[in-house]
Amino acid sequence: MTTPRKLHIKSYGCQMNVYDAQRMVDALAPQGFVETASADDADLVILNTCHIREKASEKVYSELGRLRVAKDEAARNGRTMQIAVAGCVAQAEGGEIIRRQPAVDVVVGPQSYHHLPRLLRDAAQHGRALDTEFPIEDKFGLLPPPSPKAIRARGISSFVTVQEGCDKFCTFCVVPYTRGSEVSRPVKAIADDVKRLADNGVREITLIGQNVNAYHGDGPDGRPWALGSLLAQLAAIPGIARLRYSTSHPNDVEDTLIAAHRDLPALMPFLHLPVQSGSDRILAAMNRRHTADAYRRVIDKFREARPDMAFTSDFIVGFPGETEQDFQATLALVTQIGYAGAYSFKYSPRPGTPAAEMQETVSAAEMDERLVRLQTLIDTQQSAFNAAAIGTTVDVLFERAARNPGQIVGRTAFLQPAHVMASPDLIGQVLPVKIDSLERYSLLGALAQSADLNANVSSVQPASSRMMIGA
Ligand code: 5AD
Ligand code: SF4
Repeated sequence: MTTPRKLHIKSYGCQMNVYDAQRMVDALAPQGFVETASADDADLVILNTCHIREKASEKVYSELGRLRVAKDEAARNGRTMQIAVAGCVAQAEGGEIIRRQPAVDVVVGPQSYHHLPRLLRDAAQHGRALDTEFPIEDKFGLLPPPSPKAIRARGISSFVTVQEGCDKFCTFCVVPYTRGSEVSRPVKAIADDVKRLADNGVREITLIGQNVNAYHGDGPDGRPWALGSLLAQLAAIPGIARLRYSTSHPNDVEDTLIAAHRDLPALMPFLHLPVQSGSDRILAAMNRRHTADAYRRVIDKFREARPDMAFTSDFIVGFPGETEQDFQATLALVTQIGYAGAYSFKYSPRPGTPAAEMQETVSAAEMDERLVRLQTLIDTQQSAFNAAAIGTTVDVLFERAARNPGQIVGRTAFLQPAHVMASPDLIGQVLPVKIDSLERYSLLGALAQSADLNANVSSVQPASSRMMIGA
């Protein structure tokens, strides 16, 4: 048996990175690596980086500076610490990282994680190793699946990558360059993953991809399947109570996806649908290839199919050429849609993207000011959305014990955390909760029919036989 080696992995950025980090842990487990919470005593530290906005990539170099000190300290104590940089900064600036930071042993792009064990060996034997190729082979098929133990340790909600890359080329965005063009995994491979997760206690699956609703993986009938059909297939897997997907582009919303929201109780009525701007002029400059009206129509279609559907979005303020009038159009769109929440960002030019060549016209002060105005509006909408839950009874999927003794915490269909006093035996179940109050972003309530449940906790059925409760 190999002696255990300690692996510390730090992820920045999107859900895809969080999930990729788990897959790297799974890929390294056969080499005897076990995760550790601190970088200082690790034998291998992986920085899983994000390139989407400027600040995200700057962090990498300052973090590497700190790690270099830890590595030197380890060497003084007779230990070897390897440092690997993964993720989108690795993909975009691999050579630069190697040049700028001699402490880095391995640079590995998102398409090459299955090569990590070999790259670490190469680096140990011959110095440093870099792999930022876009291989033709299916990296998903080459990454080992998580062990049952790892699945159980990760809880009842899990991500599954179904699609990677993006062919949209929005002018501000690095994703098409760092993650490459769209690739979809076959339906069967995804269904097998979801079955394995469900068999080990997972109740909620979030399908992820940079442009997830462009999904078109090979179906069992040999034809490409759209996301709606994939969701229908997964909803039928025993144990799966909730399905979600992220992130979507308005132009790839097909009628089958709308139908899935109408027909599949397990598909949550909550969607992250970025729009970036409410101004048609700016949308065109961003190469979003849709108007504000087209976006509104997509939202309307979802709402017709599922009247309780709620939305979140992403916005960029200060894109080159954005006038006060353009920004007003964004505020107007937000007001018309009424969001459950949204992320807003100041535009940051990314090297290599078309927008980086455009003349920046919005000053830093104006950007700050627009960001505050937009966030204030969104915060108001988010608070109203959360407050509307007070007094209602909502289904909650319980995830874990809460910090307060005796409390457990779960999430509503809209991902709002909900706390109740209840037995941890209920973790993994979807149960109705009467919401009494709101504390910041958390809902507080009590199990509906709690008298019956309390008297009867020992007779609550196991999670897997309660799959449709709450759906
Ligand atoms: N500047 C600011 N925000 C950006 N995003 C992507 N690229 C940039 C950029 N260059 C935002 C978009 C996207 C989210 C993930 O990050 O809003 O939807
Ligand atoms: Fe980037 Fe999303 Fe546009 Fe693709 S659709 S280029 S991921 S912003």
